Amino acid sequence: MADRVLVIYGSYRSDRMGIRLADYIVAGLKGRGAEAELIDAKAIGLPMLDRMYKEYPKGSAPPELETLASKIRAADAFVFVTGEYNWGMQPGLKNLTDHFLEEWFWRPAAIASYSAGRLAGARSGFVWHGTLSEMGMIVVSSTLTVGPIAEALTSDGRPQGQAGQLLDRAFIRFADDLAWWTEAARAQRTRKAPPY
Ligand SMILES: Cc1cc2nc3c(=O)[nH]c(=O)nc-3n(C[C@H](O)[C@H](O)[C@H](O)COP(=O)(O)O)c2cc1C
Repeated sequence: MADRVLVIYGSYRSDRMGIRLADYIVAGLKGRGAEAELIDAKAIGLPMLDRMYKEYPKGSAPPELETLASKIRAADAFVFVTGEYNWGMQPGLKNLTDHFLEEWFWRPAAIASYSAGRLAGARSGFVWHGTLSEMGMIVVSSTLTVGPIAEALTSDGRPQGQAGQLLDRAFIRFADDLAWWTEAARAQRTRKAPPY
């Protein structure tokens, strides 16, 4: 059974760079046989959080929220692609994530951070670790840190130069780690229904 993985990205900037990494990860996971799908917060166009998905009476949530909830519930794993704004999270990614809670539970999540500089968004990745854990996901220990992103990836998400080679090497462990936990979590969900 192919792993269903959502790759979630949340920059709303016109000149955004992180889409390169999101595209790279989707292609890389597909290359390994996973059913990977990009979830682009900007393309979905969620407003700033008013009501969480679960706060809408059944069947009355906006269609984009309903569709997203179904995709999250059906997924086996998540990859959060996070840039860093002033040492913190991108608001668009956090906003999308906060619309849901129980929908995220009992699945693994991996963090891929990037930035324009050499620290590769690592501070943002660090913050996401605690947040995803609070939201009921198993955060895998392998991370991707890509920086400067413009050196590592072309505009269509292909690795380039030495930074691209390093990324390709790191991706193997990152994807192996996520796949292992994806299989483990799916087996456990099958063996024993989650308690809530
Ligand atoms: C508001 C803002 C704050 C930023 N703060 C940081 C930062 O704290 N650390 C860092 O390494 N890069 C920082 N940058 C540079 C980003 O790493 C770079 O612009 C990156 O491409 C942002 O992701 P995006 O292009 O996908 O939106 C910042 C950029 C913006 C727009």
